[in-house]
Amino acid sequence: MRILVLGGGGREHALVWKLRQSPRTTEIFCAPGNAGIAREASCIPVDLRSVDELVQLAHKLHPDLTIVGPELPLTLGVVDEFERRGLAIFGPSQKAAHLEASKAFAKEFMQRVHVPTAHYAICRNPAEVQDALNLFSTPTVVKADGLAAGKGVVIAKTKEETSTIAHDMLARKFVGDAGARVVLEECLRGEELSFLILTDGTAVVPLVPSRDHKRIGEGDTGPNTGGMGAYSSDDLLSSTMQDWIMKHIARPVVDGLRAEGVVYKGVLYIGLMMTARGPMVLEFNCRFGDPETQAVLFRLESDLIDVCEAVAKGTLPAEPLRWSPEPSVCVVLASGGYPGTFTNGKPISGLDHAEKLPHVKVFHAGTAHSGNQVVTAGGRVLGVTASGPTLELAASRAYEAVEGIRFDGMQYRKDIARAAIGNRQ
Ligand code: AMP
Ligand code: GLY
Repeated sequence: MRILVLGGGGREHALVWKLRQSPRTTEIFCAPGNAGIAREASCIPVDLRSVDELVQLAHKLHPDLTIVGPELPLTLGVVDEFERRGLAIFGPSQKAAHLEASKAFAKEFMQRVHVPTAHYAICRNPAEVQDALNLFSTPTVVKADGLAAGKGVVIAKTKEETSTIAHDMLARKFVGDAGARVVLEECLRGEELSFLILTDGTAVVPLVPSRDHKRIGEGDTGPNTGGMGAYSSDDLLSSTMQDWIMKHIARPVVDGLRAEGVVYKGVLYIGLMMTARGPMVLEFNCRFGDPETQAVLFRLESDLIDVCEAVAKGTLPAEPLRWSPEPSVCVVLASGGYPGTFTNGKPISGLDHAEKLPHVKVFHAGTAHSGNQVVTAGGRVLGVTASGPTLELAASRAYEAVEGIRFDGMQYRKDIARAAIGNRQ
């Protein structure tokens, strides 16, 4: 199989790394890829915002299957365009990707199919915000309706703050057109869980559970990021709870979409808050999570090509995938200043040594080549991932590998998975 992976972050490196392990793989292309992916696939520069360019690339490379990493090409309809031309592709159609592209659509849909989620109000102008404010106690969650690259969700402590943020969003102040509508939400409390499923629109198969660490600072402090680390462990979720989520959340979503004429094919990321009232949906993403994928794919024993091909063809068997029981941990190394402004081009040292450690893989996210040197090229630079017989050992292996890696300004959280390890001691 010739495979084309679209994207160039840590998630895509993990996909390429796993796809290479399949005996069915003959060649892997990644567009645009990064410095780490370039060692495992042929990287081709591409503008992911241009569906035309992506179609042209596929016509040139003749992949047997294309796998889409990031949401942008999905929400622009890359899957629809590929399928129209008879090109096999893994990912949801533009309509299905609406679950991520519009939070207002996702909330209304969840209400229609009776999936548990926070109370909400959709507001199109400041007057509607003022009316809705009376319905909420504080803190309130304010969300831009559209895609906002992680900047579209703010937890406001007071009514005044809620109103100011909502008005700013509506005025396109910090999220552009994504703020044309805002969603106000009840603030839920509990632990977050990333519950990802694979579906071909009929069969629904869960991936192993994982947990992201979204804030920049240790102890979940400071601003939100794309994700500073993740772990996957079966202890995150009992089988009873998994069954409940499948029955009351995952299945109703897939079946509900199909009943509305939308066949969801691909991976659906269900962001959950495990509240005192049970699991409730915070958000949907129409793609693999980053950095959850690095931790989750580390544990996958089934052939990823078989799985992705079955999803794309609509022949996914409704049976569980095979997984390693060993937990995994991914620690993200980020540029100084991230999630604010940062400078690229910092030389990275210690990669070779880290790569040689057993049970460790260094996934590249924002990296590039400058001559023979690997340099930083993004906010999240590397995802150092390890597994072990216990979560504690997986984490200590990952941190041992992190110790040897250096670049100017490098920052990372030292507490990835620590809360879960602490709980068990
Ligand atoms: P989202 O992009 O919708 O996932 O939101 C980003 C983050 O904001 C989530 O991972 C949560 O940490 C937080 N969040 C979103 N919605 C809520 C909510 N209703 N209650 C509490 N926290 C939330
Ligand atoms: N890690 C969160 C996300 O992929 O959206």
